[in-house]
Amino acid sequence: MLLVVILCVTFLPFAFASIDTTCLPSEEVDVLREIGRKLGKDWDFEQDPCVEWSDSISNTTYMNNVTCTPEPNNTICHVVSISLKGQSLAGILPPEFANLPNLLNLDLARNYLNGTIPPAWGSMPRILNITLIGNRLTGSIPKELGNLSTLTTL
Ligand SMILES: *[C@@H]1O[C@H](CO)[C@@H](O)[C@H](O)[C@H]1NC(C)=O
Ligand SMILES: *[C@@H]1O[C@H](CO)[C@@H](O)[C@H](O)[C@H]1NC(C)=O
Ligand SMILES: *[C@@H]1O[C@H](CO)[C@@H](O)[C@H](O)[C@H]1NC(C)=O
Ligand SMILES: *[C@@H]1O[C@H](CO)[C@@H](O)[C@H](O)[C@H]1NC(C)=O
Ligand SMILES: *[C@@H]1O[C@H](CO)[C@@H](O)[C@H](O)[C@H]1NC(C)=O
Ligand SMILES: *[C@@H]1O[C@H](CO)[C@@H](O)[C@H](O)[C@H]1NC(C)=O
Repeated sequence: MLLVVILCVTFLPFAFASIDTTCLPSEEVDVLREIGRKLGKDWDFEQDPCVEWSDSISNTTYMNNVTCTPEPNNTICHVVSISLKGQSLAGILPPEFANLPNLLNLDLARNYLNGTIPPAWGSMPRILNITLIGNRLTGSIPKELGNLSTLTTL
């Protein structure tokens, strides 16, 4: 009995830290963790990214949104859209966006992101829209992006 109590007290904080309530697979949460770190984004990983991370307010210069869509007939969901427009984020463009297999829309407009577009983005399986206007990017568009057959807007 004492052992059980000790185990609970010891492991409870970790149970919360791994956001066991989200419908996202843990691999996608890990990808978001890495992206958040590289962008200096204040995402709270004790909350459900699909429910708690989005602002209801958005306008032409600001948006803060992470949208998830469930798989048909499944309890699992995936990140389909991320918009972090106009948040004064600094840092580089994380290559890890390519590790979100269902991402359709990525909007990082109006920040202070620098460096180049990662060649790894050429393997985003479903991407439709990428918006990067109003940053401090350098270099050319990587030839790898020519492989994105789903991309409609850059
Ligand atoms: C857009 O929304 C942000 C955040 O609420 C606000 O600070 C900003 O003033 C708004 N801009 C416009 C043009 O409405
Ligand atoms: C923002 O995110 C919420 C929840 O993730 C979603 O329901 C909503 O449609 C999104 N809004 C926009 C403008 O994308
Ligand atoms: C989901 O379940 C319903 C009812 O069991 C079935 O008719 C449908 O074909 C399923 N859809 C998929 C995508 O498996
Ligand atoms: C992609 O961009 C187009 C045009 O801006 C827009 O109509 C569409 O809703 C966007 N798709 C997604 C998945 O956000
Ligand atoms: C990006 O900006 C940081 C400072 O904000 C700077 O240290 C770094 O050298 C810049 N990188 C590039 C590739 O411009
Ligand atoms: C595009 O994809 C093909 C097939 O996967 C690959 O062989 C080729 O190296 C890719 N091109 C670039 C520029 O990444």
